[in-house]
Amino acid sequence: GIPVITLDGPSGSGKGTIAQLTAQALGWNILDSGALYRLTALSAERQGVDLADENAVAKVAETLDVRFEARTPGQPVSVILMGDDVTLEIRTETCGAMASRVAAYPLVRAALLQRQRDFQSAPGLVADGRDMGTVVFPDAPCKIFMTASAEVRARRRYDQLKQQGESVKISHLLNEIKERDERDMNRSNAPLRPADDAVVLDTSDFSVDEVLEKVLQIWSS
Ligand code: CDP
Repeated sequence: GIPVITLDGPSGSGKGTIAQLTAQALGWNILDSGALYRLTALSAERQGVDLADENAVAKVAETLDVRFEARTPGQPVSVILMGDDVTLEIRTETCGAMASRVAAYPLVRAALLQRQRDFQSAPGLVADGRDMGTVVFPDAPCKIFMTASAEVRARRRYDQLKQQGESVKISHLLNEIKERDERDMNRSNAPLRPADDAVVLDTSDFSVDEVLEKVLQIWSS
């Protein structure tokens, strides 16, 4: 079949960046599954759907009208929701928090499952998320679970948000990351954990280039 590299891990582990660079290096397609949860939350909010209503939010997920426009393989994609470019809007901290909420709903996860699998296309797919290796692509030949200390991840988030022009206190981000870890690891459906056959990579002390090199090494070994 078409090869898939799954990149799972907690918020701020660097998956997003590494997924993009890996896809670029190999000339493969990319699935940013977190974006689908962010889009579901944003779309629900825009439609005036109560985020506490699991059924209604799952409907939104099922009928999500979204396009990912890649100009060049491996390059950043534009995200178009109902004809509206929301590339930047889905990256905000607010949208991330809403995404985390809707991602806890089993009906939402089920609604997005096939949509995620449809991204598997030639010559290969790099799938970035929380449950890529455990649930969405359990047969993937290459699974990587990226981690980093909470402090390192808070710092990375801080730098990223600052670049986007958002100013958030680092202590606030650290607390939020710890809370989100707790929620992600302890939820009953799709808890965040490495697949049994995943390689665990702690990136705390590595640069982006070093992590990319390791990922490519794991893939080719
Ligand atoms: O990593 P970060 O939280 O900054 O953003 P993301 O990867 O875009 O994910 C947004 C939210 O969706 C997170 O709270 C994840 O818990 C959730 N998510 C998920 O449950 N399953 C996935 N495959 C991807 C994201």
